[in-house]
Amino acid sequence: MRLLKILFLFVVFQASAQQGGMWIPSLLEGMNEDEMQNLGSKLTAQDIYDVNNSSLKDAIGHFNGGCTSEVISDQGLVLTNHHCGYGQIQSHSSLENDYLKDGFWAMNLEEELPNNGLFIEFIVSIHDVSEVVLKGITDTMTETEKQSLISKNSNAAMKTWPRESWQDVKTKAFYEGNQYFLFVTERFDDIRLVGAPPSSIGKFGSDTDNWVFPRHTGDFSLFRIYADANNRPAKYSKDNKPYKPKHFLPISLDGVEEGDFTMVFGFPGTTSEYLPAVAIEHITKDYNPTNIAIREAALKVIDQKMKESDAVRIKYASKQARIANAWKKWIGENLGIKRSNAVEKRREFEATFTKALKEKGLEDKYGNILPEFDKLYKDFAPINIKRRNFIEVFLVTNELMQMTFRAYQVEQALIANPENLERGKTVLTGQLESIHKNYDVNLDKGVYQNVMPLYGKSVDASIYDKTAFTNLESALQLLEGDTETVIKNLNNDAAYAYAKPIIEEFFNTIDAEYQQKNAPITALQTQYMTALMEALPNERYFPDANSTLRVTYGQVRGYSPRDAVYYNPVSYLDGVIEKYIPDDYEFDVPQKLIELYEAKDYGQYADSNGKVPVCFLGTNHTTGGNSGSPAIDAHGNLVGLNFDRVWEGTMSDMNYDPEICRNIMVDLRYVLFIVDKYAGAKHLIDEMKLVHPKTDNSKKKKKRKKKKK
Ligand code: ARG
Ligand code: GLU
Repeated sequence: MRLLKILFLFVVFQASAQQGGMWIPSLLEGMNEDEMQNLGSKLTAQDIYDVNNSSLKDAIGHFNGGCTSEVISDQGLVLTNHHCGYGQIQSHSSLENDYLKDGFWAMNLEEELPNNGLFIEFIVSIHDVSEVVLKGITDTMTETEKQSLISKNSNAAMKTWPRESWQDVKTKAFYEGNQYFLFVTERFDDIRLVGAPPSSIGKFGSDTDNWVFPRHTGDFSLFRIYADANNRPAKYSKDNKPYKPKHFLPISLDGVEEGDFTMVFGFPGTTSEYLPAVAIEHITKDYNPTNIAIREAALKVIDQKMKESDAVRIKYASKQARIANAWKKWIGENLGIKRSNAVEKRREFEATFTKALKEKGLEDKYGNILPEFDKLYKDFAPINIKRRNFIEVFLVTNELMQMTFRAYQVEQALIANPENLERGKTVLTGQLESIHKNYDVNLDKGVYQNVMPLYGKSVDASIYDKTAFTNLESALQLLEGDTETVIKNLNNDAAYAYAKPIIEEFFNTIDAEYQQKNAPITALQTQYMTALMEALPNERYFPDANSTLRVTYGQVRGYSPRDAVYYNPVSYLDGVIEKYIPDDYEFDVPQKLIELYEAKDYGQYADSNGKVPVCFLGTNHTTGGNSGSPAIDAHGNLVGLNFDRVWEGTMSDMNYDPEICRNIMVDLRYVLFIVDKYAGAKHLIDEMKLVHPKTDNSKKKKKRKKKKK
């Protein structure tokens, strides 16, 4: 029976060839290339990644280290998500110019807005340096010895690696440290805001619709890369010129339909696909629920206060979005793991692994790994929860506590060496300024009262009346004077005095114990990866996401999350109007968009049924960081903009299940419709290259000629 089941699964997988994975772009030749072509791709591995010629990878940029973006014109125009550019849009917004609410469109280059600190990084080339980095590593070394040799080797490799003066290099661990790759990169620092739809389009559905389908969010924003006179990376200067990219993505106006090939090319952040069952159980049954509760308690206050005041709404927009996003994701993750029986399935897989160890005589070498995981996790679970709860309270939700935490770090630096005074003052001043830039004391006090009990500490709200930290000016006064005075000032502050013992407990016992118990788990995970590949060499192994450039591919597909429910893979503008609730903070729709809908004024952006597609689903295996990644069609054209996953599928970070894991993309025709018809920014459309890959070649040529005239 079991054998039959496995055989059956094998056949199904073969037929749909769909199993997830985030692949290294320089290693697609062979298995991935074949699989992609079986799914309908017409691209070769070299079309995607090529060191000697321009290729798709040259259009893909890591956006500010956390999202993905792609170049869509020969003048450095860049597309990413609205939620990726959110911080920048917020920072240019005020009550007078509320770009969050009303959107922003630069009508020419002069109107494009510079963004201090924002950067986009491209990958020039990728190299396997495992041999050099792992040179001299032996089984008899301790973990610390191994790590220090690895970092020594990798620093040496980076130092001597050939590159141009304006390029950088970095190395990253793959397969839990079994492999290392080196990346040559180019980073651009003059990135200007070009356009953003109002939140009622870019964030339509907000938290209610976040992580779910059917979805109707136009989650996009536009930026432009500027370079120096030689087209090279440069700091902001008004003399910089729009960047001429090595490659930019043409945009298909033909869209996609169910079954079409898609590939998502971007920078996925973190996944943990090779966890033992005991770890998945710990995370979903114990760890997630406590962190969900803390965020929920904070959001209760934040959401309320944001609704009461526009000023508070603008101040807390980014912060609220960050807190709410993971909060809802974790809930979905727990749901998906439970519904798909992921823990049990992982245990079955572990039984297969154990059996293979026996059959291959590898028991002595690796037989201890799984029992050891069980033991280590049992010991690790409580401290892992405690530590993360501290972080949720002190660094994620409660800003007064965050200020005391930063101050504590500076006090420690001063105690270690009084000469750290100037540096400490500068660092802390920067941190306090950045918190106070968007701070509301009443909101924060409410958060404090709600979250602190969940960390098991007593609440003393009077500290908010006594402390200097809740006001920037008085907070900075604490930092005046010599080392001794600063230390005295801090310790005399009511909030600081309240927080200090809790922070000390964190550093001295909680974090120390966490580090000590986490280290052997990390080491064991490295060994487990080696063992898996040796015991079950025919399984598919892809490296966990690690914020490096990856290719993932699949097809446009709907899904059925539970009995009798099936989601179509495409949503339409009609659905936006269906969800419309006048003046609602999540589901309001701009008047202009309603008018365009009523007049069916869709230009060239409707599909063959005369409807404007808004979002679509695919079986591409994505994660956080893939936001803003291009969805590319079989011919290398841009068809969608990745921005989310479906709720039941967010567990794909630990357990990719092809049945219910789907990524959500905005249809590029909706993006163009908004830019052109809604915003009237036709000059941006003119800059792009629009193509019709599905109509025949002769037609295509005629159309292009016509356009040129
Ligand atoms: N869930 C998507 C992602 O993980 C979109 C987030 C947008 N933020 C929000 N709170 N709606 O980034
Ligand atoms: N919205 C996510 C991000 O910011 C991508 C969605 C996901 O996690 O799949 O990267």
